[in-house]
Amino acid sequence: MNTKHKVIFGNCMSMEELPDSLCHLMVTSPPYFNAPFDYDGFFRNYDSYLGMLEKFASETYRVLQDGRIAVLNIDDMLVNGVKYPITADAIKIFQNEGFRYRDKIIWKKPDGYLRISRRSGVLLKNPYPMYFYPDNLLESIIIFQKGKFNYYSISKEIRQKSKIDTKEFQDNGWYKTIWEITNVLPGSKLEKGVAAFPDELAYRLIKLFSYKGETILDPFLGSGTTMKVAKKLERNSVGFEIIRDLENVIRIKTDFENEVDNNIFQVIERGTGKYRFVTLDFIERKKNGN
Ligand SMILES: C[S@@+](CC[C@H](N)C(=O)[O-])C[C@H]1O[C@@H](n2cnc3c(N)ncnc32)[C@H](O)[C@@H]1O
Repeated sequence: MNTKHKVIFGNCMSMEELPDSLCHLMVTSPPYFNAPFDYDGFFRNYDSYLGMLEKFASETYRVLQDGRIAVLNIDDMLVNGVKYPITADAIKIFQNEGFRYRDKIIWKKPDGYLRISRRSGVLLKNPYPMYFYPDNLLESIIIFQKGKFNYYSISKEIRQKSKIDTKEFQDNGWYKTIWEITNVLPGSKLEKGVAAFPDELAYRLIKLFSYKGETILDPFLGSGTTMKVAKKLERNSVGFEIIRDLENVIRIKTDFENEVDNNIFQVIERGTGKYRFVTLDFIERKKNGN
């Protein structure tokens, strides 16, 4: 099956290139609120972060077809000793937009595969009460639905082609509310500085919530994991990314390194306006206050 993939370099607060109801599934991992290393100082304050989630929820609702699913990989974030309740706030924001909150899955990373520091080390150095900080091995996957899905809208042929392998479903524990999946390791070169999620996460969600030939949206495309998996599973895809410099990473990851046919892989650079893209150089200068 021939599929089409489109990367739009622009801020997804406006998904103006997409008509209403174009997409059949949204899978994404929004930026983590001022996470140490990846997004240190990226947002002015927590309110501006929540404002970003609100605009993203509203545009997602607009471009998603009726009956379809939106999935966020997100989690509460500890910044300077304060834990921000991002998951609960995101759920409320998506509900206020009109989505139905359907489920939460906990993604558990293997013990010893921590991405950032071993916080539990504080207690090992100071084995006394009050020195406890747990290592975080969990993230949330929250699942929403826009309206009701019409199962009869899918042809018999496409249903058959998109059938889920029930052995894979059972053997790999897809049926549980805990998914044990190895995270992308910090040393991985291609995803350096992007906080990518593993292919397996996108793989399960795309298989469970879309049919072949449909269109998968990722408004925070990063290194292009969702696009890579959508292509592999014979779905079309469209992604937004604010950092212009990531084109090469996305091309390599999706195996479109030398693709020039716009009908297969299209790169759009938003021209002007408030919701343009930025460059890594710009982010660096902003962080340094220049
Ligand atoms: C957590 S990463 C996503 C990683 C992705 N799931 C992957 O596997 O590579 C979030 C991405 O969103 C991008 N981003 C942040 N704010 C954005 C915005 N307003 N519009 C579009 N992209 C944005 C960041 O540059 C970053 O690459």
